[in-house]
Amino acid sequence: MSEQPPSPAPTKPPEQRPEHPDFWCKRFNEGVTPWDAGQVPEDFAGFIAGQNQPINTLIPGCGSAWEAGHLAALGWPVTALDFSPKAVAAARECLGDAPVELLCADFFAFTPSQAYQLIYERAFLCALPRKLWDDWGRRVAELLPSGGLLAGFFFVCDQVKGPPFGILPEQLDALLRTNFELIEDRPARNSIPVFAGRERWQVWRRR
Ligand SMILES: C[S@@+](CC[C@H](N)C(=O)[O-])C[C@H]1O[C@@H](n2cnc3c(N)ncnc32)[C@H](O)[C@@H]1O
Repeated sequence: MSEQPPSPAPTKPPEQRPEHPDFWCKRFNEGVTPWDAGQVPEDFAGFIAGQNQPINTLIPGCGSAWEAGHLAALGWPVTALDFSPKAVAAARECLGDAPVELLCADFFAFTPSQAYQLIYERAFLCALPRKLWDDWGRRVAELLPSGGLLAGFFFVCDQVKGPPFGILPEQLDALLRTNFELIEDRPARNSIPVFAGRERWQVWRRR
């Protein structure tokens, strides 16, 4: 009798897979968005205020895009991007008529209309299943020129089940060290409950 190959594990439905837009649409639809700060985070506002001039900025996985509105109000060029149509609708409502390039697109596949000098990270990397982390590291490096900055909040802890998926310092370092230098790293201020005590504000400069 010939042996049967093991049958593949059943694939979960899209709304249970965070690599799929339906996962996020379901949460926006149901109003279950515990990651949403509901305002512009203090560390981000301080970092922006410390820059000498507006910087062309990309916000991947922007969700409600509070930060994009802040940048637009300061006259910064900003692209906010999310692959969930429901997230983009939430961002549109939050942004009103602020001059933000708001795209419904996949971070890993979109074609930028301009070069970015800053990529802002908040609750995007920790939303991605681990199998996508190497791609994320490659993509942020690909999108930034030498001297460009990757700045924002990182969920640094050993939380395996997610999202949010925790990342250990050595894992983050392994994703970025070839192409980036870490130039700022400290605990985040005023984290919301899902991230409290486990969130760091970091700035990485593209080599
Ligand atoms: C946890 S939410 C964070 C939203 C926002 N950054 C914030 O701080 O409120 C993660 C967001 O990333 C988006 N996302 C996940 N994978 C994506 C991808 N490959 N391309 C674009 N957006 C993505 C989801 O749709 C979701 O809106």
